[in-house]
Amino acid sequence: MKKRTMIRASVAAALLGAGAVAMAQDNVFKIGLILPMTGQQATTGRQIEAAARLYMAQNGDSVAGKKIQLILKDDTSLPDVTRRLAQELVVNDKVNVLAGFGITPSAMATAPIATQSKTPEVVMAAATSSITEASPYIVRTSFTLPQVSVALADWAPKNGIKKVVTLVTDYGPGIDAEKYFKERLQFNGGQVTDSLRVPLRSPDFAPFLQKVRDSKPDALFVFVPSGAGAAVMKQFLERGMDKAGIRLIATGDVTDDDQLNDMGDGALGVVTSHHYSAAHPSAANKKFVEAFSKANKGLRPNFMAVGGYDGMRVIYEALKKTGGKGGGEALLAAMKGQIFESPRGPVFIDAQTRDIVQNVYLRKVEHKDGQLYNVEFDVIKDVKDPGKAK
Ligand code: PHB
Repeated sequence: MKKRTMIRASVAAALLGAGAVAMAQDNVFKIGLILPMTGQQATTGRQIEAAARLYMAQNGDSVAGKKIQLILKDDTSLPDVTRRLAQELVVNDKVNVLAGFGITPSAMATAPIATQSKTPEVVMAAATSSITEASPYIVRTSFTLPQVSVALADWAPKNGIKKVVTLVTDYGPGIDAEKYFKERLQFNGGQVTDSLRVPLRSPDFAPFLQKVRDSKPDALFVFVPSGAGAAVMKQFLERGMDKAGIRLIATGDVTDDDQLNDMGDGALGVVTSHHYSAAHPSAANKKFVEAFSKANKGLRPNFMAVGGYDGMRVIYEALKKTGGKGGGEALLAAMKGQIFESPRGPVFIDAQTRDIVQNVYLRKVEHKDGQLYNVEFDVIKDVKDPGKAK
């Protein structure tokens, strides 16, 4: 073969090779899953990864003729790292969907990338109300703090709790919880006598709790992100706050199913409001909890796991509906308006806000089958994020 012919042949072969790669790429649907797998929020990463893998094990890894590829990245819950990883996933890996996001700053840092690249961003954990407004490509399967806090502010004054001190982590979700709890409690004739905020990184609750003990409100209302609840509970009990007649009320982030069973009997009777309990009495949830636990050495799923599991469902169903055609815009359109039964109960992805509409439950920590659970005793149905009305 002459030299020129040889070059032509090898270029042709290279092009053919590239074509084959492109074709293989076309038949792969990539989900870039960014989670805190290490650091302060690592339990969130562990729960969501386990739930996403369970969903895939139960529903197969091929949808609409495409092979689903999950690309997991650890952002250590630092938003600068999240942003870099999201950029790499979009530019280098050419992911079809970005998903995960353990904390609000991570979800926010990714929003401009989702918008510019027209890539759906499925928020499975972060829960500040305004997140869905940061990009028209964001869809949320977790919850919002206003959504769950209002129910507790309705319950409290009917149960002898009029004077409350709030204690929240000092960033988006905490500020949402503080504001919506306070406004609603005041509306109901109660009063927030002090509002305390603790830092997100390495919080020390002791000095704040001492302050609360001295001011003796009827109750302390707490929001801290998943993973920090056990420390709050321990210090609350160590200071004898309960014996001093101060009730602990909280969003379900505090009596987190990931930690609750290790908190001890001191947690008994704590009333919280939230969208998911591992003890939710439905057939779908029993099946979910059993399968999750079996696949993960007895681990109990928490609300983060459910956000991850449902997020995968929203992605799978959108891919089924579009057949993988039409790119990010089409996928996003197919995510809007989905209605289904989650392990938490019936849910709906509001097409206007791209946020989740769901039941909010009032729960009390009780013994069940020899373990500690959040046992639901009341429900407010189909709650929209109250943060969107303003
Ligand atoms: C958040 O950062 O938005 C966040 C994290 C953990 C929670 C709730 C909200 O439990």
